[in-house]
Amino acid sequence: MQDIRPLGAGAAVPPTAKASFVGVTKRYGRGGAAVQALEPIDLDIAENAFVCLVGPSGCGKSTLLNILAGFESPTTGRVLMDGQPVKGPDPRRGVVFQQGALFTWMTVRDNIAFGPIATGKSSSEAGRIADRFLDMVGLSAFAKRYPYELSGGMQQRVGIARALANDPEILLMDEPFAALDAQTRELLQEEIKRIWQATRKTVLWITHSIEEALFLATDIVVMSARPGRIKARLSPQFALSRDPAVVTSVEFAHMKAEIFELLREESLAAQRQEVER
Ligand SMILES: Nc1ncnc2c1ncn2[C@@H]1O[C@H](COP(=O)(O)OP(=O)(O)O)[C@@H](O)[C@H]1O
Ligand SMILES: [Mg+2]
Repeated sequence: MQDIRPLGAGAAVPPTAKASFVGVTKRYGRGGAAVQALEPIDLDIAENAFVCLVGPSGCGKSTLLNILAGFESPTTGRVLMDGQPVKGPDPRRGVVFQQGALFTWMTVRDNIAFGPIATGKSSSEAGRIADRFLDMVGLSAFAKRYPYELSGGMQQRVGIARALANDPEILLMDEPFAALDAQTRELLQEEIKRIWQATRKTVLWITHSIEEALFLATDIVVMSARPGRIKARLSPQFALSRDPAVVTSVEFAHMKAEIFELLREESLAAQRQEVER
């Protein structure tokens, strides 16, 4: 692992880690057809951190996120949240997928209130929570609409509001903006940064976009081609800036070039794997 800017040394889990992967590997299937998706991964996600995972397609990013979500179990190793083993899905970990996965038969407001009601809140309290997060994602005027009446970007904002309404301690987001056009994505990146700066939720975020990672992340984890390993970890400072123009700074361009090089080698390796298969 190429440690560009090390964050704490050794494999010991620092007490501030919100979540940790300790020697996590994943193998799908058995025998000759088995796929080694992840080599031993050691990764700490600090409380309040915004960690972006980048890496070529098929390198195991979703696998890693799904293991922390509790949807998959590791083949070997352990995954911990607040020092306790992850045993399955838990409302303390909120997941947002690439496509909103909203309930089509419910209004936007009811979609957001669903989680709080499911965890025992009264309907009036759940409604108040929904209104607060609708306001946070700028969709108060669309409370009574149905998902099909919204654009893709708005649906994704509802998905984010719905995850936040459950008051998770960590948000797990698998390429949440991948299906959006570039302009919508940039505006939503600014919005998610504002929300993160306001709530300081711990976030694990997968993206294909180096700019998105640099703009949002406190930590960028670059993964290798399959089997996924951690190739490098960087700590950009742009997530703390409120100025959308940070993307035009010299430092930004410099780090972008650095990550581009790291990723390019791995993308080429991933391509060779595809041809050889
Ligand atoms: N349920 C599964 N069964 C078998 N192979 C899988 C399964 N899920 C993922 N894989 C394989 O594991 C590797 C990593 O997949 P994934 O975590 O989805 O990568 P990424 O999200 O980085 O594109 C890929 O080669 C993929 O085909
Ligand atoms: Mg994926």
